[in-house]
Amino acid sequence: MLLCPVRDCHLPLEREARHLFCPRGHSFDVARSGYINLLQPQDRRSKQPGDTAAAIAGRRRLHDCGVTGPLLHAVAELTAASPDDVVLDAGCGEGFYLGTLARETGCDAHGVDISIPAVDAAARRYPACEWIVANADRFLPYADRSFSLVLSITARMNADEFRRVLREDGRLVVALPAPEDLVELRGAGRDRAARTVETFAGRFTLTDRRSVTTAADLDAAAVQDVLHSIYRPMRSQPAEPMRVTFSLDLLLFRKLAGANDRRLRGNASDPERPNPVASEGRCRWTMPVHSYPLRHRSVNLDEHQRRGH
Ligand SMILES: C[S@@+](CC[C@H](N)C(=O)[O-])C[C@H]1O[C@@H](n2cnc3c(N)ncnc32)[C@H](O)[C@@H]1O
Ligand SMILES: [Zn+2]
Repeated sequence: MLLCPVRDCHLPLEREARHLFCPRGHSFDVARSGYINLLQPQDRRSKQPGDTAAAIAGRRRLHDCGVTGPLLHAVAELTAASPDDVVLDAGCGEGFYLGTLARETGCDAHGVDISIPAVDAAARRYPACEWIVANADRFLPYADRSFSLVLSITARMNADEFRRVLREDGRLVVALPAPEDLVELRGAGRDRAARTVETFAGRFTLTDRRSVTTAADLDAAAVQDVLHSIYRPMRSQPAEPMRVTFSLDLLLFRKLAGANDRRLRGNASDPERPNPVASEGRCRWTMPVHSYPLRHRSVNLDEHQRRGH
């Protein structure tokens, strides 16, 4: 299912012990933790692209203390994943959503992220899934129609590639930060849903949408983790304990049947096409607000890994 990422090659990769190679002789090693780095030099814009180790560690601690549990629950419910599903998570981060979904449903799970610290952390904690380093905005190194479900959770949105790697009856779940997400820390955000539906228009059709909102009373260390996870670690004032809102807009798409991909390319802004958001009304599903105690353990990633999480 994996394809050689070398430009103009893209032949199937075969695996032999801790190496993968294509018929043209391009080869790739499996890292000690089990992930495969297929990122090509021309596909990265910096030496260490994607989330930093600090952002990854902060996000993992937040997931681990339970604040994102209701978000996971809502994503899982919308995906309705089963053991028959083959799932790709594009921009998987440290693997919380995909790894938990795989453990709970038994689906065949594949995660891709451009950040080595993220994929390394995912591979250590969820060894049953396949973890790849690649740029999800470019070529996704998988054969056409490999997946029955693609996830993009506050992450990448490559409509053409998602369409190519999805089976004809495949579904796509996109999670976006909702306007009230982290409102206490960054003010009210934009409503990104309509624009996102437009991004996928012509290739996908929107079949369901929901919102999930929760809140947690966080201690100062957890607030600092949130700031790290949104790339705003530097503040003049030290973080203080506070109640923080977490909120996602969830969009479920189906691949449009029989669409001619070439004809549709670049057609997303067709003014003739009705906007599904405008015509559907907003189905709002708000989880009960969960309040968590002010206890947040500041555990670092290595400590977690040593304990076999
Ligand atoms: C906001 S985080 C979300 C992570 C994860 N989905 C979660 O919700 O915990 C966005 C992720 O996208 C990754 N990313 C950024 N640019 C990328 C790219 N071009 N290709 C693949 N992943 C990318 C970052 O490294 C980061 O892990
Ligand atoms: Zn090759």
